Amino acid sequence: MRARFATLVFATLVSGCIGAESSEPPIVGIRNMYNQPRYDTQERQPFFPDQRSMRPGVEGTIPRESEKFIHWATGRDAKGENWLMETPAGIVQRNGGTSVFLARGKERYEIYCAPCHSLAGDGMGMVSRRASALGATGLIAPSFHDDRLRHIPDGQLYATIKNGVRNMPAYAHNIPVDDRWAIVEYVRALQLSQLAENTEQSK
Ligand code: HEC
Repeated sequence: MRARFATLVFATLVSGCIGAESSEPPIVGIRNMYNQPRYDTQERQPFFPDQRSMRPGVEGTIPRESEKFIHWATGRDAKGENWLMETPAGIVQRNGGTSVFLARGKERYEIYCAPCHSLAGDGMGMVSRRASALGATGLIAPSFHDDRLRHIPDGQLYATIKNGVRNMPAYAHNIPVDDRWAIVEYVRALQLSQLAENTEQSK
């Protein structure tokens, strides 16, 4: 009898809650995932001599994604002033040399850039064609074979992938440093191939 009563109370409680909207925080039975000791950003932490809860990196270690040479990660020279004109040779070397690096760049390009910029780099990828059909001209990707883009420094091309530009989103989170440079090299190869074709035609 008591068990039946308990079941009834439980069923009433549960059915009473289903579908009911509330702006209150949910009632949670086991709270150990909710209440955890932690420090807020910039909060004081008496355990360490400098009392900072935000700990600096351990000396002698290099965090993932950080670079020994900062310009390899920013696309600018060591002073941070000018764009690097060319992809750092050290990056190509540590990725197995030019042909392996280019193959990697092609693969990554076709995943991340071709949907908008197209396989040939003329800017007529599927997304651009769709944008064009809908009249969203601001979302049409430019052609890499434009004179201006043929002449921007490698570092600027690299930074476009990393930071995005105007209507183009940033790819810093999806594409790591070396792959960004590999894509730069592949875009350069695409530009050269098109140039060869143009020269053929103009003969
Ligand atoms: C979602 C679509 C989309 C993807 C994916 C995309 N782009 Fe773009 N890209 C654009 C658009 C749109 C612009 C023009 C942005 C503007 O001018 O507002 C652009 C502009 C550029 C430019 C010209 C920058 C300048 O200085 O004017 C470069 C270079 C470029 N993209 C490279 C890349 C590379 C390399 C990739 C792959 C990692 C890539 N994009 C992926 C849409 C895209």
